[in-house]
Amino acid sequence: MTVAPKHAPLIDPFARAITYLRVSVTDRCDFRCTYCMSEHMQFLPKKDLLSLEELDRMCSAFIGLGVQKLRITGGEPLVRRGIDTFFRAMTRHLDSGALKELTLTTNGSQLARFAPDLAAFGMKRINVSMDTLNPEKFAEITRWGRLPQVLEGIRAATAAGLKVKINTVAIKGFNEDELFDLVKWCGDEGHDLTFIEVMPMGEMDEQARLGQYWPLQDLRARLADRFTLQDLPDNTGGPARYVRISQTGQRIGFITPLTHNFCESCNRVRVTCTGEIYTCLGQNDRADLRAPLRASDEDTALIEAIRGAIDRKPKGHDFDYTRGVGGQVARHMSHTGG
Ligand code: 5AD
Ligand code: SF4
Repeated sequence: MTVAPKHAPLIDPFARAITYLRVSVTDRCDFRCTYCMSEHMQFLPKKDLLSLEELDRMCSAFIGLGVQKLRITGGEPLVRRGIDTFFRAMTRHLDSGALKELTLTTNGSQLARFAPDLAAFGMKRINVSMDTLNPEKFAEITRWGRLPQVLEGIRAATAAGLKVKINTVAIKGFNEDELFDLVKWCGDEGHDLTFIEVMPMGEMDEQARLGQYWPLQDLRARLADRFTLQDLPDNTGGPARYVRISQTGQRIGFITPLTHNFCESCNRVRVTCTGEIYTCLGQNDRADLRAPLRASDEDTALIEAIRGAIDRKPKGHDFDYTRGVGGQVARHMSHTGG
């Protein structure tokens, strides 16, 4: 069923229709991945976060403006208390046909507990972050995470009927040697696999980050040495490029935020857990949606703020390692949501 959005759709200055919203529902996480957080992160006070009711109002407003896909991120979204209530509330938009897809990016730690509910709320596919299949290395990179717990979560998700896509951050000298093991495991288990280039976010030491940078071009070339890779047409409007491995039939994605190859088709915006809308992951321009949410029970000011932000959506991002600090974004991924 297709329903027309309640209001005129969101179109940015470059004629891109905004149909995809990513919302971070918490900056907290039960892991401390080294490329994402310091071990002793200071988290935001609860009053700064959008409440579950505010999240509902905001997401519903976006859906009324033509958003068809909603991805919930964090931090770790499943550690936000009551988040299942929010998911349940969103099923009304799936039922009405206004929302086509409700999905989640998770570290998998709580999946064993949540998977059946998520499937019942109408989720079909979820992304699980996993950088290694080696338990010691997993504990090293996530600091607080334990691999068996995540593997159990992934099994529970699959058993509940959710399609799982694995997201792996490609890290030089860390998981280079696991490239073929990860590909094989995902092939055997029936999961799509996407590699992500380490992005210059947060205040991590510059040298350390450059040391982690494993260009996906190199990763892809190594895959191509062993397999035949067919390019697949991209239809997500996002930063991922996909190939199919002819020999196994599996799909592999590459997210290379440091290239400009995807900005033209960008259809998405992000909202942080404090209600700031970022219309580009790689730019600092933002607008506050929390104040208009809190100022009135009416959505007029909220919708105006959303439109105002979309009217300023930049053409593309400025990530560039060669420009040093200038091309970087000081926020943490756990704040904006990946
Ligand atoms: N660079 C690349 N990916 C990152 N993630 C978190 N921080 C970074 C970073 N600096 C990833 C997580 C997860 C997704 C939400 O974002 O590993 O897969
Ligand atoms: Fe948590 Fe994801 Fe950040 Fe790791 S990358 S600390 S799992 S939010």
